Formats: sequence, C-alpha cells, structure tokens
Amino acid sequence: MSTRKPIVGGNWKMNTTARTALDLSRDVVSSLGAQTDAVDILIFPPFPFLQTVSGELVDSGIKLGAQDVYHEPDGAYTGEVSLNMLKDCGCQWVLVGHSERRHVIGENDELINLKARAALAGGLRIVLCIGETQTQREADQTDAVNIAQLRAGLNEIRADQMSNVVVAYEPVWAIGTGLTATPEDAQAAHRMIRATLAELYGTVVAEATRIQYGGSVKPANAAELMAQADIDGGLIGGASLKAPDFASIVEAAARSRA
Ligand code: PGA
Repeated sequence: MSTRKPIVGGNWKMNTTARTALDLSRDVVSSLGAQTDAVDILIFPPFPFLQTVSGELVDSGIKLGAQDVYHEPDGAYTGEVSLNMLKDCGCQWVLVGHSERRHVIGENDELINLKARAALAGGLRIVLCIGETQTQREADQTDAVNIAQLRAGLNEIRADQMSNVVVAYEPVWAIGTGLTATPEDAQAAHRMIRATLAELYGTVVAEATRIQYGGSVKPANAAELMAQADIDGGLIGGASLKAPDFASIVEAAARSRA
C-alpha cells in the first residue's frame, strides 16, 4: 500500500458570498479540523474572501489556497493577483492550469508553466491540473494530451521542487457534469501520469508525488475512486460547497489508506 498521504482540495470556483464563504469555512473546520493527521485538506475560495477564510482556518490544520496566480511579482497587470498578495492573505497553495482557466479563459501551457515556476520559486505549493476533453478522449488522445500538459506544465521544474507539487487529473468532460471516470479509467490515467513523472524525475520522486482525481467526485463515488492504487485524493468542485459532502469525501480518502 502506498505511503503517500491523501490530499483533498475544495475548489469553490466563482461561488459563495462573503457571508456564505464565512459560514462554509466554519462548517468545514468544525467537521474536518480533526482529520488533518490522516489527510491533507485544502480549500480554494474566491480571491475576495481569502483573508476572511484564512482567519477561520487558524489552528485548524486545514490549508488555504488560491484558484489562480499571476507570474509577475508586481506592476501594470490590471486585474491580476501576485503570489506575494496571496501569501499576505495566508495562502500556502495555488491551483495552476485548472481546465476552466485553460478552456474558458484561454490559458495555454506556456503561461501555465510560467505560473507554476513563479509560484514554486516564491514559496507557494501548487496543484497542477491536467486533463483531456471529451473530443480528445473520443479521438484516443487521452494519454497524449495528459503527457503533453504534464511535461509542459513541469518544464524547468526541478526534482527537488516536486515535493511542493501535486498533480490533479481532471478529465474535462467529467467536471461539473455529473459524469465521472470509472475507477478503472481514472486509475489507468493516474498510472500513466506517474510513469511520465518517473521518466522526468525518476521513480523515487514519481512514487512520492501525489496525484488527485477531479471531476464530479461526490460522497457516493469517492470511496471506490480513492481506493485505486495511484489515486491519492481528490480535487472537489460542486461537492465542496456543502460541508457534509466535502467531509464525507475527506473521510473516504482517509479510509482508503487506513
Ligand atoms: P466538480 O469540479 O467536482 O464540480 O466536477 C472539480 C474541479 O473542477 O476541480
């Protein structure tokens, strides 16, 4: 059995208000603060609520992350947020390359890699998200797309930085759709991702790197996904907006390695 500690993130996306973000973070802390020995737990609220949520997480063991970052340190980049701003708000983590940034906002692999490198150099930990679209899957390009996104995203990132990198495999067709990869399909993709990490960094780093699954994870399907050998937790969107559902997914991740 793997010795990798499971890691579960709640990606709130562009949801919540100041009030509901506060309530949700309180509920998450009260239901999950005791689980952080078994599972690393992260939450990714919208930018305007980072500081408020940060205050609620103090001493809980639950870590704060941002949904995006810009790679330049400061300057004339209207609308962007720097990593020092995120650190000032209490963030230790940042998502990089989420499929909505790739496919809705239009980020490419080069920009994603700049963000990944800047975040790591600046002392944040990253969740690098990759995944194929429905069309790519139907065209049998799943492995090729994931390998290409992984290699491009990790370009010039060194082996000694990989302890601060988590990979999230999120098939685009499964995000927010209610469709989930079967545990077997997800495991096959995760195994292939780990093999690519081994080619890039050697087996010790590949075996130590955590790979989350994301895409319509919910309490009903979490246990069988988390039970797969190369699935080390999840990145949760919709279900992270309900504290009991998020808690039950975290508990499934804890049980998978118990
Ligand atoms: P979902 O989102 O759980 O709502 O499918 C996952 C994600 O985008 O990280």
